[in-house]
Amino acid sequence: MTNNDTRIELVTTVTPEHWDLLLSADPSKKLVQNYLQSGMLFVQSKDGHPIAVMVLQELTSDKLEIKNIAVDPRLENQGIATRLLQDAVHFAKVHHYQQLQIGTGSTSFKQLYLYQKIGFRVTEIKRNFFVKNYVQPIHENGLLLRDMLVLTLAI
Ligand code: ACO
Ligand code: ACO
Repeated sequence: MTNNDTRIELVTTVTPEHWDLLLSADPSKKLVQNYLQSGMLFVQSKDGHPIAVMVLQELTSDKLEIKNIAVDPRLENQGIATRLLQDAVHFAKVHHYQQLQIGTGSTSFKQLYLYQKIGFRVTEIKRNFFVKNYVQPIHENGLLLRDMLVLTLAI
């Protein structure tokens, strides 16, 4: 994949810089380790440093999930995630998936805007997902995060 003047590569060795980004999207190291085992880690780099990550994982033969997407906080709101999401849509098309899925917190207003801007629609609510699966409570936008919204894009 290419993205303007930066490089996007499929990576097999996870560095501490990758971990910083991965954990900013998903604070559970255990869950991240689980999906990294069967998922594909794409890293966008600029001048040799990672600036964004995205993990894609096949759920079924026709469904792909974006398990993790994160951008260096110093480079947010410049369209990096929008382009990475478009790359994921392209990847799903090329590999003949019928659906692309992404899950996010019900309190994640920016993420919900971004995913719906790309065309994702809410298809499921996983109630108490963040209470059951995370040791520490997660607060976001002044709210306690409990529920996960699953959004799906038909490819
Ligand atoms: N409410 C609504 N929209 C907002 C808000 C807000 N509070 N803040 C910014 N936006 C808009 C921006 O204006 C922009 O819209 P525009 O392109 O129409 O102008 C859009 O949201 C952001 O788009 P990008 O610039 O493409 O996104 P960015 O590169 O900043 O990356 C991301 C977004 C990945 C969510 C980044 O903020 C990040 O890494 N956050 C921390 C990790 C995280 O939460 N990851 C996602 C978790 S869910 C998962 O991983 C499956
Ligand atoms: N994203 C996140 N939070 C926001 C945003 C935003 N884009 N814009 C404002 N806020 C926050 C404010 O900071 C404030 O939070 P805070 O109190 O923690 O600082 C909060 O949202 C707004 O709270 P209030 O001031 O109590 O709400 P307000 O009196 O502005 O009324 C309402 C909200 C009813 C939605 C008003 O904006 C409105 O009438 N909108 C048009 C009609 C509408 O949409 N009605 C609701 C439709 S659903 C229904 O009717 C059942």
